[in-house]
Amino acid sequence: MYLQRRNRILRQSPAIRSLVAETALSPNDFIAPLFIDEGENIAFEIPSMPNYYRRSLDLTVKEVEELWSMGIKSVLLFIKAKDEVKDNTGLEAWNPDGLMQRSIKAIKNAVPGMLVMTDVALDPYSSYGHDGIVTDGEIVNDETVEALVKMSISHAVAGADMVAPSDMMDGRIGAIRGGLEKSGFTKTGIMAYSAKYASCFYGPFRDALDSAPGFGDKKTYQMDYANRKEAIKETLMDIEEGADIVMVKPALAYLDIIREVKDAVDVPVSAYNISGEYAMVKAAAKMGWLNEDKAILEILTAIKRAGADLIATYFAKDAVKLLTQ
Ligand code: PBG
Repeated sequence: MYLQRRNRILRQSPAIRSLVAETALSPNDFIAPLFIDEGENIAFEIPSMPNYYRRSLDLTVKEVEELWSMGIKSVLLFIKAKDEVKDNTGLEAWNPDGLMQRSIKAIKNAVPGMLVMTDVALDPYSSYGHDGIVTDGEIVNDETVEALVKMSISHAVAGADMVAPSDMMDGRIGAIRGGLEKSGFTKTGIMAYSAKYASCFYGPFRDALDSAPGFGDKKTYQMDYANRKEAIKETLMDIEEGADIVMVKPALAYLDIIREVKDAVDVPVSAYNISGEYAMVKAAAKMGWLNEDKAILEILTAIKRAGADLIATYFAKDAVKLLTQ
């Protein structure tokens, strides 16, 4: 057989494959999400997220030190609020001595170089388990945005480098940018969950924080997974309103959206490899149906290939170990 072109030439050895690889993961790509609880010396393994823990702040700080020593440069904080502080106003969300605010301070104090991002949404503080304030069974937009602005400023006061609004209310990015500007936080950034879909894959996360919606679902604010153009609209609006980084979430079933957003914008794009995506890999690996290490690298590479410049992932540590071993 005479062939003018033989594509397999570039695949024949690990050396040539690595030379021509179009995508390479690096520890610089990862944001490590952290679940924080009250108490001391507590590491609670989340049942639907094997080997992932919700920790008290003392152990969280140790974890952050370890992440930093491994080369992971960014964490995204989520807290589990006690039932007593949950209500329908979000008041605890901007308590200067709240768990989130204490966590930001403790982490920045222990590892000043670590980029600290914080989740901004009312669900951990909501007696209804919703991302916003509820009036007559409805998640009201403008009142919620006011609360999110106070919450964001309080994170900035505590020392957060970036706030990450994950609530999908209209106009919140502009309002938060405005609030930060007025309060003098001109260096605090915004990573906007711009295209966040109403997804069943958030299930394990809601177990982790005990934050499942008490009634209904989140479909009146999070996006319909049938939609594509809407993701571009949301993302472009967030950029106009002041988002520094935009996010697509979930990641795996939304690789097409990541690519389209990447092609449409000129700011960094992040993707959230969410809890359900983590749980699926863990479950299949436990059954002996998948090689976990290979699945982790394949999934994260695919998310980056799709267009993600940053990836928030519960596999951050595993991936760095796999990449550096
Ligand atoms: C809440 C929030 C959620 C996630 C991040 N922030 C859950 C939700 O919207 O119900 C999901 C993260 C994950 O599943 O890993 N505002």
